[in-house]
Amino acid sequence: MVDLKLSKEKKFFIETFGCQMNQHDSEKVAEALINLGYSPTPTSSEADLLLLNTCNIREKANQKVFSRLGALHQTYGAKPDAKIGLLGCMAQMEADNIFKKAPRVDFVVGSSSYSFLPDLIARVEKGERKVIDVSQDTDRLFEINTQTRKNPYKAFVTIMEGCNRFCSFCVVPYTRGPERSRPTQHILSEIQSLVNEGFQEVTLLGQTVNSWTDSQGQVNCFTDLLKRLAEVRGIRRIRFTSPHPNDFCPDIVDVIENFPVVCNHIHLPVQSGSTRVLCRMKRDYTRELYLQKVEFLRKSKREIALSTDIIVGFPGETQDDFEETLSLVELVDYDSIFSFKYSPRPGTEAFSFAEAVSEEEKSRRLQVLQQFQRKIQLQRNSKMVGKRYEVLVDGSSQRGTKTLAGRTTQNKIINFPGSQELLGKLVEVQVTNFLPNSLQGELVEC
Ligand code: 5AD
Ligand code: SF4
Repeated sequence: MVDLKLSKEKKFFIETFGCQMNQHDSEKVAEALINLGYSPTPTSSEADLLLLNTCNIREKANQKVFSRLGALHQTYGAKPDAKIGLLGCMAQMEADNIFKKAPRVDFVVGSSSYSFLPDLIARVEKGERKVIDVSQDTDRLFEINTQTRKNPYKAFVTIMEGCNRFCSFCVVPYTRGPERSRPTQHILSEIQSLVNEGFQEVTLLGQTVNSWTDSQGQVNCFTDLLKRLAEVRGIRRIRFTSPHPNDFCPDIVDVIENFPVVCNHIHLPVQSGSTRVLCRMKRDYTRELYLQKVEFLRKSKREIALSTDIIVGFPGETQDDFEETLSLVELVDYDSIFSFKYSPRPGTEAFSFAEAVSEEEKSRRLQVLQQFQRKIQLQRNSKMVGKRYEVLVDGSSQRGTKTLAGRTTQNKIINFPGSQELLGKLVEVQVTNFLPNSLQGELVEC
């Protein structure tokens, strides 16, 4: 058991690296620490417990964490007696190697072991060092009633964890373990309480979110779950990320058309436009099959925005393969893309693949792809000028507090002048100008 008196006045600070799942895990970890009597501090140098929630998806993310750990005092101004903990995917992969590489680390908790945090922290508080849990108990989900959310208007809700797909480039099945779906009732009640607290938007999270299944057989599949959630009284917007193309069936279009609270934006990772490369990536679909899925989405009566993830320079990717990726990007006409240079990850199948593409060539392809997409986005965004959109105002723009930022249901960012009182509200904005990654507008007064 944890000695609550001991930890009463103690403060924690978490730095989060990586994806939305990690960001939400940090919110849940923060809740677990608050339950143990810790309080959050925005100043790392005040923390008694300093946590790094790490990412391992690409080598760069790893290096960042090690450079932070190598300069704890410069980076965080860490107190000499602060306890240092490493969480997340890198913690899971590196396990006890971390204690050798970064001797100041007191404890390591993998991304499948957060439910053990109270006991692990109790041991650290008692002075034990090199405390570690990187087990992958397939029955365990990190269920905690999260009160502390970073954004007061939009909330993440995990509906499933882990991945069974083992794409040849990806560490996630090793770091996050096998797929585990949360029961329908847990998801429904979390979302109902979020709505009751005043949240306007929820984003359902899962590594392959549409592979969600109901272990209790109440709901058939992901699209049925969406329908149930769309009926939650008071809910304004539902998003989800990221679906796998293979588990996508045409009924998603019916759901988006019939339930306006389900946002008309889908992030559908393609990774490559070449069937040859997709096969070596073990994605289990061809270019043609992916394009078929896009076609049924494009046929919707509601205009569905599409975004994707693309990797350039996968081992053996030729100039012709890369050109197929460019041609797919042109055909699909994406609203936005996230693009990455392939990063070999130890432990994955592709790590041992021959025919590596040089760093220079990867950088060149990435730049070509990003320039190509930039033009597509400029053209798409230019068509929005003069039109009106409903946005959820969720922050101030980088230009200052007098400019607000909101997102449309298609996930487009529109900046517009307005008062801070509008934060958290759904308002109508008319687009006046465009940039590649955002739009400018004016509030439509009613
Ligand atoms: N190298 C580069 N990008 C990767 N991703 C996953 N693994 C790697 C890797 N080894 C990208 C994929 C995935 C996104 C979250 O990160 O595009 O969809
Ligand atoms: Fe990684 Fe996604 Fe493939 Fe799973 S489906 S292995 S998370 S890229």
